Amino acid sequence: MVDLSTSLAGVKMKNPLVLASGIRGNNAKLLIRAAKEGAGAVTSKSCSLMPREGHVNPTAIAAPTYMLNAIGLSNPGVEAELGEIQEAVAHAGVPIIASVYADSVENFAAAAARISSAKPAIIELDISCPNVHKEGEMFSSNKEAASEVTRAVKAKVKNIPISVKLSANVPDIGSIAAECQKSGADIITAINTMPAMCIDIRAKKAVLANQYGGMSGPALLPIALRAVHSIRKKCSLPIIGGGGVTSGEDAVAMIMAGATAVSIGSAVWYRKDAFGEINMEMSQFMKAENYHKLSEIKLIE
Ligand SMILES: Cc1cc2nc3c(=O)[nH]c(=O)nc-3n(C[C@H](O)[C@H](O)[C@H](O)COP(=O)(O)O)c2cc1C
Repeated sequence: MVDLSTSLAGVKMKNPLVLASGIRGNNAKLLIRAAKEGAGAVTSKSCSLMPREGHVNPTAIAAPTYMLNAIGLSNPGVEAELGEIQEAVAHAGVPIIASVYADSVENFAAAAARISSAKPAIIELDISCPNVHKEGEMFSSNKEAASEVTRAVKAKVKNIPISVKLSANVPDIGSIAAECQKSGADIITAINTMPAMCIDIRAKKAVLANQYGGMSGPALLPIALRAVHSIRKKCSLPIIGGGGVTSGEDAVAMIMAGATAVSIGSAVWYRKDAFGEINMEMSQFMKAENYHKLSEIKLIE
């Protein structure tokens, strides 16, 4: 038997696989289902202080090697979300990571403070969604904005570890992570989707109604590995590393890049039993390579 357990800022996980935000929405039953399927921790869809409608359809497309979405962070707002998070915390049997999104520093702090009353194990700050601001205006685009959000949330939320979710669509993600660490972040989540576009050449139109979307899925893996590796070099916080992970071998590569836990997003649509199979494939690889526990997997220098 290999030991797949890991921990994030003191939060223990039986295996390193984390359901990524937005993949199963914010309904408690769907989050609990991911836990039953074998996720070691589960992240809810990002919610904001007030309800958000999101973009008009079409909001998502799937291709064999990538997915593109511009959902626009539609969510029922933090008040409606509290009960779902409470139910998931009570019944999932694994740590629940509650994700929040906001359009200002103050609203990030207020949304995080409100969701903290549902007692999730970790609060994740989605400062990197590519589809809701004008291009280049994500809080994760520069060190100053990223650390301002982090400081404001840490000032309001004292007893729950905070993970800051970053985008690889920047020249130096490592320095942004290092600045978040200085501002009090406990964990870094990386990466969010990358800005992208698909064109219907017969209709002569962008496929998504929003024109641009965020790309996820297998094609994202090399970008995510590089981002996680760059973060590891400049920041000593635990990392939830993900983007394009669809197999046990991808997950091992993510750990070798520097991840402490591995997020699984689009893979739940590419594979029938993503969590069960990826855990099994990790175990098989580790057994074949004579590893007994995750911490024995050495980082790539
Ligand atoms: C349909 C969809 C909705 C998403 N919604 C969110 C969200 O609300 N908040 C967030 O931080 N990330 C969101 N993401 C990004 C994922 O959490 C993840 O970072 C990204 O998909 C890359 O991982 P993957 O290649 O494993 O899917 C969403 C992704 C998809 C495909």
